[in-house]
Amino acid sequence: MESTLSPELTEHLEAARARASAATSNEDLRAIDRDYAGKGGVVAGLLAAIPTLPPEERRDAGQGANRLKQAIAALLDERRAELEADAIAEARTGKGFDPSLSIPAPARGSLHPVTSVTRELEDIFTSMGYKVLDGPEVELDSYNFERLNIPADHPARDMHDTFWCEVTGAERDSRMDLLLRTHTSCVQVRAMEELAPPFRVVVPGRVFRQESVDASHEHTFHQMEGLVVAEGLTVGHLIGAMKTFLREVFRREIEVRLRPGYFPFVEPGFELDARCPFCPKPGAGCKVCKHTSWVELCPCGMVHPAVLAKSGIDNEKYTGFAFGLGLSRLVMLRYQIDDIRHLMGGDQRFLSQF
Ligand code: PHE
Repeated sequence: MESTLSPELTEHLEAARARASAATSNEDLRAIDRDYAGKGGVVAGLLAAIPTLPPEERRDAGQGANRLKQAIAALLDERRAELEADAIAEARTGKGFDPSLSIPAPARGSLHPVTSVTRELEDIFTSMGYKVLDGPEVELDSYNFERLNIPADHPARDMHDTFWCEVTGAERDSRMDLLLRTHTSCVQVRAMEELAPPFRVVVPGRVFRQESVDASHEHTFHQMEGLVVAEGLTVGHLIGAMKTFLREVFRREIEVRLRPGYFPFVEPGFELDARCPFCPKPGAGCKVCKHTSWVELCPCGMVHPAVLAKSGIDNEKYTGFAFGLGLSRLVMLRYQIDDIRHLMGGDQRFLSQF
C-alpha cells in the first residue's frame, strides 16, 4: 500500500513513522494520531485541498489521502503493541508503569439463544394471563408417567427413552422411582396439585432422553409446557390460545391445523401445525417447511379426565387443555440453526454469535 503513495505522501508517512519510533507512551501516539488524522490535521488538509485540484487529479488525491490515513493508523497500532509489550516486560521487572496504556477489553457474555427465546415466550404467555412455573429435573416416576396415565407396562413409555437415576446409600434398593424427566408434562401434575382451578400455566425447562444423538436428536433439550384448567374449556379455546400465541410471535395472523396425535394424558390428542411463517408468501413453501407450507408446532390436546381425577380435580366440573412446545425446535427455526447439538454443545464460537 505504501509503495503506491506519491512522493509527497510518502514523506508524510516517513515523518509520522519517525515520530512514532520516538514515542514512549500512548499519549505520544495519540498526539501523532491527532496531528495526522484529527481535525485540522495533515489528512484533513489534503482532503480540503482536493476541490482546488484539476478534476482529473481529484480521485487519485482522495484515494491517496485515505491510504495515508490507513498507513498511519497501522503504524500507530504497531507501535502501540510494541510499547505495551515493553510495558509488560518492564512491569515484570518492576520498572516503569504507564497508566495511559490501554488494556484488552474484557470479554462480554451474552444470553444463550434458548434463554432469549424462553424469555420472549414467557413474556407473551404472561401477557395472556399465564403464570410461569418451574419443576424439578430429577423427577418421580409417578409425576413423569403414572399420574399422566402412563402406567408401568404402558407402551407409551417406549416413546421416552428414560434415564433412570441410581440411588446409593440406605435407600439403594427401595428407590427405583427417580428419573430425569423426559418431558415437562410432569409439571402439569405438580400444577394441578398446587393450584386451584381456574388457572393457566407455562413451564419452560430442560428434559432428557436417552437418544442416539444426531443433527436433530439430543439427549438434553428444551420444552415449554402449557396447561389451562377451567370450566367449559373446549378444543376451540386450545386453538384460540395457540393462534393468539402465534400472532404475538410473528405479529400477524397465522393459520393452524390439527392432525390426530396420541398421548395418553390427553383425549382427544393432536399435532398442531402452523402455516409456515417463513415462506415468502403464505402457502408458497420454502426450505424451512420442506416445501409443504406447514411446520409442526406442538403436540397438544384436551387433558384426559382420568389425569384431572388423579390430581383431585373434579372432572365433571372442569376441563383442560395442554400443549408441549418444542423450545429447542423453535430456537432452531428462529435462528436457522441446522444442528441441535450446537445448542447444548457449549462451543464459544457458536455462542458468541448471539
Ligand atoms: N409431553 C409430550 C412429549 O414430550 C408432548 C405433549 C404435551 C403432548 C402436552 C400433549 C400435551 O412428547
